[in-house]
Amino acid sequence: MALIEVEHITKIFGPDPKSALALVKQGMGKDELLAETGHTLGLHDVSLSIKKGEIFVIMGLSGSGKSTLIRHFNRLIDPTDGHIVVDGTDIIGLNMHDLGEFRRRRMSMVFQRFGLMPHRTVMENVGYGLEVRGMKRRERDEHAQRWIDAVGLSGFEHQYPSQLSGGMQQRVGLARALATDAEVLLMDEAFSALDPLIRSQMQDQLISLQAELNKTIVFITHDLDEALRIGDRIAILKDGRLSQVGTPPEILLQPADDYVRAFVRDVNRARVLTVDVIMNAPQYRITEENLERALSDMRRRGAEYGYAVEGDAYRGFVTQDAVQAALDEPNGTKTIWDVAEDLPVLKEDDRLEVALPTTLAAEYPVAVVDNEGRLRGVVSSDGMSDVLTPPEEEDGDEEKPVERA
Ligand SMILES: Nc1ncnc2c1ncn2[C@@H]1O[C@H](COP(=O)(O)OP(=O)(O)O)[C@@H](O)[C@H]1O
Ligand SMILES: [Mg+2]
Repeated sequence: MALIEVEHITKIFGPDPKSALALVKQGMGKDELLAETGHTLGLHDVSLSIKKGEIFVIMGLSGSGKSTLIRHFNRLIDPTDGHIVVDGTDIIGLNMHDLGEFRRRRMSMVFQRFGLMPHRTVMENVGYGLEVRGMKRRERDEHAQRWIDAVGLSGFEHQYPSQLSGGMQQRVGLARALATDAEVLLMDEAFSALDPLIRSQMQDQLISLQAELNKTIVFITHDLDEALRIGDRIAILKDGRLSQVGTPPEILLQPADDYVRAFVRDVNRARVLTVDVIMNAPQYRITEENLERALSDMRRRGAEYGYAVEGDAYRGFVTQDAVQAALDEPNGTKTIWDVAEDLPVLKEDDRLEVALPTTLAAEYPVAVVDNEGRLRGVVSSDGMSDVLTPPEEEDGDEEKPVERA
């Protein structure tokens, strides 16, 4: 379900945005608009929709309009044209009172530069949003403590921001945003100032907090690896326009234009893509317990091998030869479950880099099972190499992103 609908947002900075808008609607581009009128086209006809409970990443190079876009969500910025609808309410129409209420209840923001108050302790910083709301000290501190613990800062409650490392300060910022209990977390380059190791820990922490809290998170980054790592879906902005919105596999495997294609070219796909992306239905499921009947069914269907399934549970890999051999045993009493071989299996969310050795070593497509042990599909080494081989380079005047950091 869509929580935030962005409908044809255009944002123009300058003294007379309305006149500039008319020019943009006649087709004038960002550079020309700036040269001719001195107006900056921050966003140009951007539409997208963000679902409840997802981590939605907005990605693009510096100046592409990411901050401008996210600031529309809590109306720090009003659009020149277009609408933002949050949970069915057009927020452009809110009066001051309702807007205040909306910001407190719905949205909380985590900034790149932490935005902590230096003369307040960790506890006081985290509790600040609650204090503004009029919550009493005792209750506020209890609440704040819970989030301090959740982000791994127990023991630092009474320190001041300057006594903490950058990573720890950002955790305070995160705890403060979480403590307000707002529905949506807006994070503008929240991890960009952190060292790589700390940053990757924060990414993991955000993903696990999200799994637990099921908040809607709008996360801005200029870093594609970060986007692919944490995003359920990713929007790619270029010069204020939306190039593509998609899941990480969609962005990697079906880039919408040359710009996105150039961006994703150097990504280590095996590290990003998971088994479910290349999984196929098993060619043949064996549910027949009796060896003779199973064998004749396999022959009739031309299945050299199959995947034995009992009720919901995956029981193992079976070849015609193995069934035949069991039938040839004197006084044999075996069933298909005895014959089924316990070969290595994969999980749907295994990354391809993890699944690769198993898949390459296997003689047959490898079974993929879920956490309940049900057979979900199979993965073949051909399917694996298809997605891991980058597409042919296209000649021509494709655009390259000039900057990755
Ligand atoms: N307050 C402002 N006044 C004038 N131009 C602005 C303002 N804010 C942003 N811009 C311009 O809008 C464009 C998008 O900026 P921004 O949203 O900050 O990009 P990003 O966050 O992706 O780096 C840039 O060209 C920037 O210079
Ligand atoms: Mg920005």
